[in-house]
Amino acid sequence: MTRTSRFSSVPGVRKLERRIATQMGLADRIPFFQPHLGINGASIDLGEGPLVNFSSYNYLGLSGHHEVSSAAKAAIDLYGTSVSASRIVSGEIPLHRELEQEIAQFLGAEDCLVFVGGYNTNVTTIAHLYGQRDLIVYDELSHNSLMSGIQLSKSERVAFPHNDVAALDGLLSERRGDFGRVLVVTEGLYSMHGDLPDYERLLATCRRHDVDLMVDEAHSIGVLGATGRGIGEFSGLPPGGMDIQMGTLSKSLASCGGFIAGDASLIRYLRFLAPGFIFSVGLPPADAAAALAALRVLKREPQRVKRLQENSMAFRRCVHEAGLAVDTQGITPIVSIVIGDQYECMRISHELLQLGVHVQPVIYPAVPINGALLRFFISADHTMAQLEMAAGKLAGLLMARNAMG
Ligand SMILES: Cc1ncc(COP(=O)(O)O)c(C=O)c1O
Repeated sequence: MTRTSRFSSVPGVRKLERRIATQMGLADRIPFFQPHLGINGASIDLGEGPLVNFSSYNYLGLSGHHEVSSAAKAAIDLYGTSVSASRIVSGEIPLHRELEQEIAQFLGAEDCLVFVGGYNTNVTTIAHLYGQRDLIVYDELSHNSLMSGIQLSKSERVAFPHNDVAALDGLLSERRGDFGRVLVVTEGLYSMHGDLPDYERLLATCRRHDVDLMVDEAHSIGVLGATGRGIGEFSGLPPGGMDIQMGTLSKSLASCGGFIAGDASLIRYLRFLAPGFIFSVGLPPADAAAALAALRVLKREPQRVKRLQENSMAFRRCVHEAGLAVDTQGITPIVSIVIGDQYECMRISHELLQLGVHVQPVIYPAVPINGALLRFFISADHTMAQLEMAAGKLAGLLMARNAMG
């Protein structure tokens, strides 16, 4: 006899069950949580052989790189699979500081602190640093982890229109004087549409109003600038301009975790007191070693970053030449094709899968209800033939559907 779940009458649970049933009825499948075999790189195997893959933020192809995997295995042999304690008590291993110092040096920051998750890094950092008397002004498209940190901080909060520095300036002119401390939150590369902030103006605006600037560089480190140092390098500015530089270990750095880079007193304050750091286990040895090895490959082989940028521009060109609207001036490895209806988006993703191209649909609540999109993540390891093939299949499919009305 099946037992009725104590949660089946919760409104959110009922709503989800209805959405899944509708999706099964309309598209026969749920395109989420599909396990893959092997490495999630420029190609992927979902169980029926290799597909050209655009669903992974393994931007530089370092997850699966032999040096990175070997370093992780060696760390397990030395330290086991867990550090088995918070770092502040007995969970510290030499790899933690080595990784932090190399990230800080890479970014031109005084110091750095690594956390067990990128999401948690944003939540605990913002909530620890700002409180009820402060103001946080954030880009309206800020990632959910930033929003969670902002909410948890209990600061007064106000959004500015996406990438609108003039609006931010206006807001700060109006409200700055009412608060002692003010934080402005943006991202180095926006992960839904792959667009960039006007970092130079943003930084100048923050300096003029004497407010703190936090930039989430989850998708820009390893990606932007000649050597992958992020939005500052891309903008031609000296390192260390922003007050709080956040990054993840899970994307270009082929591991799991997040970090904050900044001045020594900021990092010390987080290291000794941030709840999501001190009340959580230290980064596992394999993850620390993998990120460190990946960073060393990135420093040694900046040509990976160049290849990623060339591939990103080439894919945009191919999509444009195949007859679809795309920002051909864009240089970032996130190329989003807006479809609109979520079920249509899921069906197109499935049809592409059958043609050998794996691209994930992004639907509500990650985007507005009628703003479903196919998000192509480009990798340094994609070949020109793969990029051309995928652009051709995508254009063929969309144009055939348009012709059918
Ligand atoms: C902009 C941004 N910030 C933070 C995160 C969280 O990072 P992680 O997945 O490493 O926890 C993500 C995740 O994709 C992200 O896109």
